[in-house]
Amino acid sequence: MKKILVTGGAGFIGSHLVRLLVNKYPNYSIFNLDKLTYAGNLENLSDVENQPNYTFIKGDIVNAEFIDQFFKEYKFDAVIHLAAESHVDRSISNPIEFVQTNVLGTVNLLNSSKSIWSESYQDKLFYHVSTDEVYGSLGEDGLFTEDSKYDPHSPYSASKASSDHFVRAYYDTYGMPVIISNCSNNYGSFQFPEKLIPLFINNIVNNKPLPVYGKGENIRDWLWVEDHARAIDVIFHSNKLGETYNIGGHNEWKNIDLIKLMCSIMDKKLMRDEGESQKLISFVKDRAGHDMRYAIDSSKLKKELEWEPSLQFEEGLEKTIDWYLSNEKWLKTVTSGDYRNYYESQYSNRQI
Ligand code: NAD
Ligand code: DAU
Repeated sequence: MKKILVTGGAGFIGSHLVRLLVNKYPNYSIFNLDKLTYAGNLENLSDVENQPNYTFIKGDIVNAEFIDQFFKEYKFDAVIHLAAESHVDRSISNPIEFVQTNVLGTVNLLNSSKSIWSESYQDKLFYHVSTDEVYGSLGEDGLFTEDSKYDPHSPYSASKASSDHFVRAYYDTYGMPVIISNCSNNYGSFQFPEKLIPLFINNIVNNKPLPVYGKGENIRDWLWVEDHARAIDVIFHSNKLGETYNIGGHNEWKNIDLIKLMCSIMDKKLMRDEGESQKLISFVKDRAGHDMRYAIDSSKLKKELEWEPSLQFEEGLEKTIDWYLSNEKWLKTVTSGDYRNYYESQYSNRQI
């Protein structure tokens, strides 16, 4: 049985990836290591938590001693590393936490992998999940390719860029088998409602203001989260060691246009008069260092590994809105912080 460690599996993208792997590969043992920060929620995985090929372990990647012991005990064949502090606004108010988790945490995982794989790297893999934000900001034209130069602007993207450099350094210096992917903005179910789409859905439902940064002219390239998980699965199995793949949705939206589309879909769903939710839009002070435009060229991934996004954005957005509307309880527990009790009730008596 192949032992695969997913870090950050209780988060947004991690939970979709863990679900995919547990269901698709009964012959793999999937271990989910997560510190359960405010962004980690085990309820995201309640549908797979009793599967025989799934194990959850609570732990902090910043704790080098713990990570080393943990790797020695389980001797993983592969690591898919998603655990991170992921919200740009939080990185502006608390950069140190991002350095600790995203940089130091990644190096701890690299060191422990190197140590348990010291006899041979045969059939081993360290897969690092990263972001398009490492490339900085685009002007009106052009796309980020795998050869775009790194130019991060926020403490979050600087910490992710640094972690990417460390992963490449372990490939160049120690020959460690690594792969990196850099993805654009994800959307879908189970995303913590601090990010644009779930935050605005929640605010529209509750008739709260929609805080649009600056003039709302920034552009993001949105990808359905399950398409990202599928891309990670394909890249993980590609054996393209030392390679980088960009993952994106070919789906650029100006924030204000996306927000107006959300408002209009939600007016219909909530049986409001057309235009009512738009009245909640409130332009606020811009995010510091706000990148203007992200857009991904994912032609390498399409050409080499035949991956393409599966869902049209309008369909995906409507599905996402439907999910949040019919999972009001999830949203309420997450926004109230009650989800933290779930771990205690599920795991306090369970020996792992
Ligand atoms: P998220 O914030 O929803 O989840 C992060 C998870 O990591 C949480 O479960 C959290 O508890 C866990 N974690 C945080 N610190 C930890 C620590 N010290 N030890 C162990 N676990 C810890 O993030 P996400 O949006 O799912 O992003 C996952 C990864 O994908 C990140 O590396 C992020 O940089 C990258 N990414 C995200 C997007 C996006 O649009 N969300 C796009 C591209 C890349
Ligand atoms: O591009 C990939 C990145 O996408 C990931 O690496 C990050 O982890 C993820 O958080 C996301 O970063 P963004 O900063 O692009 O996502 P966010 O949802 O925070 O913001 C999307 C856009 O919406 C951005 O231009 C800022 C704007 N915004 C966001 C919030 C939360 C607002 O106008 N108002 C808001 O309240």
